[in-house]
Amino acid sequence: MRVSPYRNCATLFFLAISLLHAQSAQPNDEQVRDRADALLKQMTIEEKAGQLNQASGRIIKGFADDKPDAAIRAGKVGSVLWQVDVHELNRLQHIAVDESRLHIPLLMAFDVIHGYRIIFPVPLAMASSWDPSVEEQAQHAAAEDARAAEIQWTFTPMLDIARDARWGRIVEGAGEDPYLGAAMAWAQVRGFQGDQLSPTTILACAKHFAGYGAAEGGRDYDSSYIPEELLRNVYFPPFHAAVDAGVGSLMSAYMDLNDVPAAGNRWLLHDVLRDEWGFKGFVVSDALAVGNLVTHGFAADKEDAAYRAFHAGLNMDMASNTTITYLPKLLSEGKITQAQLDDAVRPILEAKIRLGLFEHPYSDETKMDAVLNRQSTRDLERKLAARSMVLLKDDNNILPLPKSVRKIALIGPLADSADDLEGGWSPETLFGDPSKSHPVTIAAGIRNKLAANAEVNVISGPPLRREYPAMLDIIQGKKQIPEPTAAEVRDWLARAEKAAKSADIVIAVMGEAANMSGEASSRSSLALPGIQQPMLELIASVGKPIVLVLVNGRPLDIRWASEHIPAILEAWFPGTEGGDAVADVLFGDVNPGGKLPVTWPRDAGQEPLYYNHNRTHDPDDAPNFTSRYWDLNSKPLYPFGYGLSYAKFSVSNLRVTSQIKANETAKVSVDVANTSNTAGDAVVQIYIHQRAGSASRPVRELKGFRRVTLAPGQSQTLTFPLGPDELSFWSPQTKIRAVEPGTFDVWAGQDSTADLHATLDVTPN
Ligand code: NOJ
Repeated sequence: MRVSPYRNCATLFFLAISLLHAQSAQPNDEQVRDRADALLKQMTIEEKAGQLNQASGRIIKGFADDKPDAAIRAGKVGSVLWQVDVHELNRLQHIAVDESRLHIPLLMAFDVIHGYRIIFPVPLAMASSWDPSVEEQAQHAAAEDARAAEIQWTFTPMLDIARDARWGRIVEGAGEDPYLGAAMAWAQVRGFQGDQLSPTTILACAKHFAGYGAAEGGRDYDSSYIPEELLRNVYFPPFHAAVDAGVGSLMSAYMDLNDVPAAGNRWLLHDVLRDEWGFKGFVVSDALAVGNLVTHGFAADKEDAAYRAFHAGLNMDMASNTTITYLPKLLSEGKITQAQLDDAVRPILEAKIRLGLFEHPYSDETKMDAVLNRQSTRDLERKLAARSMVLLKDDNNILPLPKSVRKIALIGPLADSADDLEGGWSPETLFGDPSKSHPVTIAAGIRNKLAANAEVNVISGPPLRREYPAMLDIIQGKKQIPEPTAAEVRDWLARAEKAAKSADIVIAVMGEAANMSGEASSRSSLALPGIQQPMLELIASVGKPIVLVLVNGRPLDIRWASEHIPAILEAWFPGTEGGDAVADVLFGDVNPGGKLPVTWPRDAGQEPLYYNHNRTHDPDDAPNFTSRYWDLNSKPLYPFGYGLSYAKFSVSNLRVTSQIKANETAKVSVDVANTSNTAGDAVVQIYIHQRAGSASRPVRELKGFRRVTLAPGQSQTLTFPLGPDELSFWSPQTKIRAVEPGTFDVWAGQDSTADLHATLDVTPN
């Protein structure tokens, strides 16, 4: 449809006026600070400590035994979390605004990780798009929805680098790479906060600062031991990018970092974050983490914990009540000062002012559902979900499937599952009404794609079961799924085999239930849970064309499938419209272009496994490379950056400035061409390796990427900079970040094994 030029002009005019209005209405830094200081002048010590106190908005057995009404009325709560009932949120806000002495509104917080009602793909999936605008668009829509639902602060983005698929929270981040992670971090902060906080945005929270993803053995909450060079070169960059993008808050991590718990780690929260990076926002602890400084064997008691966290630079205590209980006492004993207390409170008041909370404290309950049910958000979700999927295998072009197919057998526990497609973080599923988002199952998506008389025979089971129940299942009082009996297993297998035998095409939908990834969801094995592996082998043995669709939150051990199943599509947890998005890709309405943001292991025993490791004395390219394991191929099953398309691309003609000074920027150019007769997306990736220096450097490091759409036969030249940002590293010997003169290898291609190569010489300034 053509839009009339007149209508365009009118829209532009309207937009310009609203922008001017929004900008003029938005106070500048000085006005924000003056207003916060004016409030601070009127506040009692208890009220200041109250702003540093985040309380549970609902009664949760073992966490919060009472409603927070009285504490809010007394000005002893600055923020509320874990409540998504908008009516209740407005009620609590009314207590703060109408009944507390200074009428300071509450900052309502929740984990809006990848959507509020319409759930977007999990963050690991969105990172697989290798397209930061996917994250930005999704989080922008999530922010609008959250704000309409009276949530003004989200505990997102999760920026933990994860090099170990056993760790359950790998699903919440952007994978293993600092460069990709930083790009995704930046995009998410912009998505939530826009150019600046305002009444239409929400406050983002970069978490978990820092090193949580390196939990020993991939066991959640376990200690991390990370040398400073690794922190600075690998674990910090996404956080630094978030700070540069203007993130308003950070959350400290749960675990001990090099023996000092993150919530009490002054080096992290003060020296690095504030002194080095110039962070001006505030830091909240993870839930109960301040009180748990005692559990860690770090603080002597809760008062000591409150003191240590405060001294470390932590502003707000999430749910362990220590600030409100002990800060007034610590102040009266002279252990902390008024000025320090004011400095801790000021950024929280400033965030409330910038968010326009004093003027717009409530949600309009009558308008909320119209925002949360927007068709445009659903359409966006479907598009982004398909854009995030990774085609791992497609032998003999079995995909895309013909829409003319008459009989499909759709088999596996996730074939018709609704909630699992949304992953573990769906605010309304967690604490509200799960029925509101109406997720599209894969069975429904496939039916939507086919003619009315096509037969889709769905064998969706047996349900996936966690051996030990998930924490949230316990909190929510959910019954654990019983283990299927031997007879039930035989029955499921028989039904699956029968369905496969009578089908033209078999689609297996397998992987993990939503509660098998995420917090407190680490695994010692990466095998397909339950009876999925034998079921897959059985239905493959029938001999029909077969496709495996994976729904999961981490790489799984799919060695058998990678050898015996001709086509494998990684859909991750694709979100509310996931079923339609999977069908879009399977039947070729969308050509997949996602790439792996993680190295895919063969076996859990390889973990931690990541592409940007150092060379050893017996490197992988040595003739008799046997140093890793004698019982397993040491290479990953699929490399970082890998993913196929229905189209074919070539990357050629790599040109790199041959020599630069250390403070200059080299130019990398490369041509990418679509050599097939199908339009599709290529992701061109640039890797470097520094041959010698004051420290050993990784075999390869990603330093540039771009996703481009190319028509059949079309080609494009892409250029990338390689300057101080890309070439520098923090050296354990010099203790600074610098570009060290020397020779760099440069590769360009479509995954981390790219072999198109050139060199770059860097000379001293
Ligand atoms: C604990 C989790 O570690 C954190 O990621 C989350 O934001 C908080 N709980 C609040 O729900």
